[in-house]
Amino acid sequence: MDRSFASALARAEALVDGGRAGDGLAREDIRALIAGPDAGGPGGDEALFALADRVRRLNLGDAVHLRGVIEFSNHCLRQCHYCGLRAGNHELKRYRLTPEEIEAVAVQARELGYRTIVLQSGEDPWYDGATLARLIERVKRLTGAAVTVSVGDRSEADYRAFRAAGADRYLLKHETADAELFARLRPGTTLAERLERLHVLRDLGFQVGSGNIVGLPGQTLDSLADDISVLRELDVEMAGIGPFIPAPGTPLASAAPGDLRLTLRVLAVARLVLPLAHLPATTALATLYPYGRELALKCGANVVMPNVTPTEFRPLYRIYGNKYGMGDSARDSRDKILRLIREVGRSVAEDQGHSPKPAFTGQTPGVTEQTLRS
Ligand code: 5AD
Ligand code: SF4
Repeated sequence: MDRSFASALARAEALVDGGRAGDGLAREDIRALIAGPDAGGPGGDEALFALADRVRRLNLGDAVHLRGVIEFSNHCLRQCHYCGLRAGNHELKRYRLTPEEIEAVAVQARELGYRTIVLQSGEDPWYDGATLARLIERVKRLTGAAVTVSVGDRSEADYRAFRAAGADRYLLKHETADAELFARLRPGTTLAERLERLHVLRDLGFQVGSGNIVGLPGQTLDSLADDISVLRELDVEMAGIGPFIPAPGTPLASAAPGDLRLTLRVLAVARLVLPLAHLPATTALATLYPYGRELALKCGANVVMPNVTPTEFRPLYRIYGNKYGMGDSARDSRDKILRLIREVGRSVAEDQGHSPKPAFTGQTPGVTEQTLRS
């Protein structure tokens, strides 16, 4: 085993043994752990994964949180080089669900047992702030579920309106902590602006989710270590970490995909550094590798995000090619995930799955199930 990996792992283990999780890990140790053992031997990786699994169990227990994702529009005005929804991809047929259709899907999601509903879309100004705020309020009232919003860059006034309407969480990945790479791959946007938005969302009281892509062309190990630092500095409540998958109809269509073990190491280190964060086993992992999500659940992940988008629209939310579960119904997706959770010996969480941090365990804004019943 490579010495720097082995000694970083020993320091991480000592921290965990001392009851500190890995939040005290030094930056060089984070980098060494992400780099992995020299020979890429399974022994070293496995010890890191086992440690992350232990930190997950100690801090969050065995319950896996399910978040039902509604992909309600695949229109996007951005030109991200990695993403199939980019405006310049004219091969893609575009769709939008009306607010009424989205509400109906949300009710189905609640009936399938999900206690968090994620409203996700490309950056689509067709839905103005007031329309989305009304939608959030109705979804909360109709379902009593926690609501996560994931619609990209919006004005501070819009974010405030979403929060006032009862939105609990906001997902906005920082994608890569390499400012130069960020600006190149996301034309017209900067990392600094994105981080500023994440601070605004935090100040508005959202449970904040960020995260990054692993294996982007031009990404370095140093910048992956910076990704972990960004997540630690933001002290995020959630972090989505998934592999890059080359997407048809994009400038990166023929680039190499992200590596499975590298992605799992970044995920495992994120778990060490953010012991209380919700970390999903991403759909991107399931897409690239048959057992990707199972492996992720065993190296720190504690969330799965089943798709509830109506089957006819799923193939059109083509962020990347051959997305996992493209032909499934919402019920199929749920049944597969319940089986997967059972197979890895875990249970399904029964609560809304708010961040366990003290600031978020109290009453959330909006209508609760208690008031729905009365
Ligand atoms: N590979 C992996 N993840 C991607 N995303 C977009 N395109 C890709 C890709 N080719 C992720 C980004 C973004 C979300 C919409 O999907 O992280 O936040
Ligand atoms: Fe649009 Fe998001 Fe895809 Fe960029 S990553 S093109 S903002 S959907």
